[in-house]
Amino acid sequence: MASAAIRLLLVLTPLVLWVFSLGPQDGIAVASERLVGRDIFLQNCAACHVNGVAQAPRIGNRAEWEPRLAAGRQSLLSSVLRGKGGMPPKGGNASISDAQATAALDYIVGRVLELENEVEAAKRPGP
Ligand code: HEC
Repeated sequence: MASAAIRLLLVLTPLVLWVFSLGPQDGIAVASERLVGRDIFLQNCAACHVNGVAQAPRIGNRAEWEPRLAAGRQSLLSSVLRGKGGMPPKGGNASISDAQATAALDYIVGRVLELENEVEAAKRPGP
């Protein structure tokens, strides 16, 4: 019981830190930009980040994202904007804005944390 609570805390802490790392305006825009981030991800990032093309960390795969999340949002964002290793700047689509690339990044990270929460919730005993 206690260990379940500790595990939940371990899962929720990065999520809370992530939300606080967003500016106050971003916080307000999160709900409406969520769909946008998903669309931008599907159009510009999914080709590599679903199946792990060129060793890209796969969406929803916590083990592959955790070491990268530790670098922080600014560092990840600068990788997306400038490119890194096998990833060209903005995933190769120079026509998306910095804000759109940021929304796609937040969608990816949000999915990692969300899926983890769903797994934890499924493990909890029902009412
Ligand atoms: C052509 C394939 C490709 C596309 C398209 C692509 N990525 Fe990547 N991405 C990669 C690869 C490969 C890596 C691993 C790079 C490395 O660590 O050397 C990566 C790494 C990342 C990282 C981690 C960066 C870091 O500092 O560790 C983020 C965040 C990311 N991608 C976000 C995105 C977003 C957002 C998009 C869409 C706008 C996108 N990627 C499109 C291939 C791609």
